[in-house]
Amino acid sequence: MTASLEQAPADRHLGAPVLEARGVVMRFGGLTAVNDVDLTVREGEIVGLIGPNGAGKTTFFNCLTGLYLPTEGQVTFRGAVLPPKPRKVVLAGMARTFQNIRLFGNMTALENVMVGRYCRTSAAALTSIIRGPKFRREEAETRARAQELLDYVGLGSSTELLARNMPYGDQRRLEIARALATDPKVLLLDEPTAGMNPQETREAMELIFRIRDSGIAVVVIEHDMRFIFNLCDRVLCLVRGETLIEGTPGEVQSDPRVIEAYIGTGDEGDDDEDDVPAADPQDAVRDEKEGRA
Ligand SMILES: Nc1ncnc2c1ncn2[C@@H]1O[C@H](COP(=O)(O)OP(=O)(O)OP(=O)(O)O)[C@@H](O)[C@H]1O
Ligand SMILES: [Mg+2]
Repeated sequence: MTASLEQAPADRHLGAPVLEARGVVMRFGGLTAVNDVDLTVREGEIVGLIGPNGAGKTTFFNCLTGLYLPTEGQVTFRGAVLPPKPRKVVLAGMARTFQNIRLFGNMTALENVMVGRYCRTSAAALTSIIRGPKFRREEAETRARAQELLDYVGLGSSTELLARNMPYGDQRRLEIARALATDPKVLLLDEPTAGMNPQETREAMELIFRIRDSGIAVVVIEHDMRFIFNLCDRVLCLVRGETLIEGTPGEVQSDPRVIEAYIGTGDEGDDDEDDVPAADPQDAVRDEKEGRA
């Protein structure tokens, strides 16, 4: 079945592990949001993270990207444990977008991307104050690179728009451009297609493939199953903070426990009724068979 997916894992050579989580636990007081989760992300692959609302996906992302120090367990990036300081994590080569878009609304699209780029320029405070030739040269380079990235994500004509005036789907792409401006080795996307229409979602998938092909590993959280199963080489499904299954899209989408986790079995007497997926995981299976996806 995976043979019909756009990129079957066996078709491509996967590189060395770049991001590894071992036994990650994250507790908030008495609540265990992530419980003993392992994940290995290799160079050249796209890994999906799925699970019902509240499963711990974003919390796990926050552990991977240094926003949270895990209560237990370890995250290593290119073999080293990173300090739980988001700036150092970005400098090491990890970039992310947020489930709730975090752009500078009163800055233009171009300026938002330039902000992402500053972590890679040497423009120290003193250089900025003096505004000498070195500052001006770096500023011009930063601007040119930011424009390139806007073109790359398809926002080349939105350069001067204020971020807050941009359509929602464009804001999501702008966040990706800003993340790419940091020159990451791994890009983590938290619900990149939330609020996008089908056309924008298809374009986002195409963009993520291009990003992967440029040598950046991608980890993506999404509720849209068709998107996940067509995009990813591997998928990890979390339920109540724990790994339910990790495998190829074919393995995960045909596992009945995944569907149960989303729609509930009806006899659990808890709040699973709220956990309605964007698409039944089996839809993707049917669509693949019928050549619709
Ligand atoms: N900072 C926090 N303090 C306390 N509890 C938290 C915190 N962040 C998350 N939680 C709880 O941890 C659990 C997992 O939340 P998380 O946001 O990681 O889920 P999610 O899988 O990303 O869900 P969604 O699909 O709705 O985005 C939830 O019960 C949530 O209420
Ligand atoms: Mg989340």
